[in-house]
Amino acid sequence: MKGQLLNALIKISAEINSNMELDTLLPDIVKITGDYLKVRNASIMLIDWDTLTINCYTGAAQNHNSLSVKQGIVGDVAGTGTEYIVNKSSSSGRGSKSFLALPLKAGSKILGVFNLTDKDEDYFNEDEVSIARYIASQCALAIERHNIYTKMRANENLQAIGLLKSSVAHDISNLLSIADVYLGLMEEEIDKNSNIYEYIKAVKSEMKRIGILATDMLDLSKDKLVLHKTKFSINELVNELKLYSEAFAKSPNIQIEFRIKSDDEIVADKNRLFRVFFNLLNNSADAVSDNGRIILSIKRTGKDISFLVADTGKGISKENISKLFQPFFTSGKIKGTGLGLAVVQDIIKAHSGTIRVRSKLGSYTCFLIRIPKDG
Ligand SMILES: Nc1ncnc2c1ncn2[C@@H]1O[C@H](COP(=O)(O)OP(=O)(O)O)[C@@H](O)[C@H]1O
Ligand SMILES: [Mg+2]
Repeated sequence: MKGQLLNALIKISAEINSNMELDTLLPDIVKITGDYLKVRNASIMLIDWDTLTINCYTGAAQNHNSLSVKQGIVGDVAGTGTEYIVNKSSSSGRGSKSFLALPLKAGSKILGVFNLTDKDEDYFNEDEVSIARYIASQCALAIERHNIYTKMRANENLQAIGLLKSSVAHDISNLLSIADVYLGLMEEEIDKNSNIYEYIKAVKSEMKRIGILATDMLDLSKDKLVLHKTKFSINELVNELKLYSEAFAKSPNIQIEFRIKSDDEIVADKNRLFRVFFNLLNNSADAVSDNGRIILSIKRTGKDISFLVADTGKGISKENISKLFQPFFTSGKIKGTGLGLAVVQDIIKAHSGTIRVRSKLGSYTCFLIRIPKDG
């Protein structure tokens, strides 16, 4: 028995040292641990903001793909960082299986939970518990190492963008506004029923996209966003978005529904919030096929304003959910930059707000944002 466990440890250590890719490393660890400690279900759940999401598992499908931190025993382990060990011998009857839920900790930071449930015949002996703890600590190190590595790569890119700094982004914005004035003049002179009128509108919306991209890059190159807050009504923001809703929708069969249940005033950075929804609605438009639906719903929730952007598009896989807000993460697009959601998250955080995402592959995606109404 001891020899077997030692083998498992050696295998896991070798795997951790040779594999930088979490996507393959964690499932391997879970499998080896599950096999050697003879548990029917083993899983690793990782924390993303305040949600715990299954990263990988062996054995039966899990009841929960994701739960919020503090929800249930596993959520409690994630929230408090204390381990949970239930050890019962097989003689105590059916339904009383032993299980371990160990926090994945890097220093004082809790990254997730390592679950070993349904031990086959018996309870975990002391050696097995120690080994599980050791594996959990190695996993945490591997995850932290991976996070640092990913951040470093993103930082290198961000530094390159930093070279653009404000001057270039401002120049781009100024040149675009001049071109926009000329387009406006053309629009006025042209017959509203002619094709050219439609083309001008299309050029204007593509120019808006360039402007948004330039300001997104500028924001991402900053260490800290300085907001320019003013008081404005929700409707002002919505009306501005509506001007572009045809451009988002791309095909006439795609509808964008605006369900605005609040005309409250909000104290926020209006241009930046516009860019948040511009980016989210664009992503939704990219994700839905013909006849797809996109909804922007806004309501008051206590002292906050809640915004929901939902679409019946292709959805996001659970592997990709955890990478969504990383700068430069893009998937399934020919011309994606991967900057949109990174900047969306920065803007919401700068407003002391929260952003959550729920998605089902092949079915839907929704982003739920809350920001304080009074700034
Ligand atoms: N509503 C959505 N439906 C499906 N996938 C989405 C949605 N929003 C974002 N994504 C995924 O997240 C990735 C990152 O989005 P983003 O940061 O805006 O970068 P980009 O749009 O340039 O790729 C997208 O490439 C896409 O794969
Ligand atoms: Mg995008």
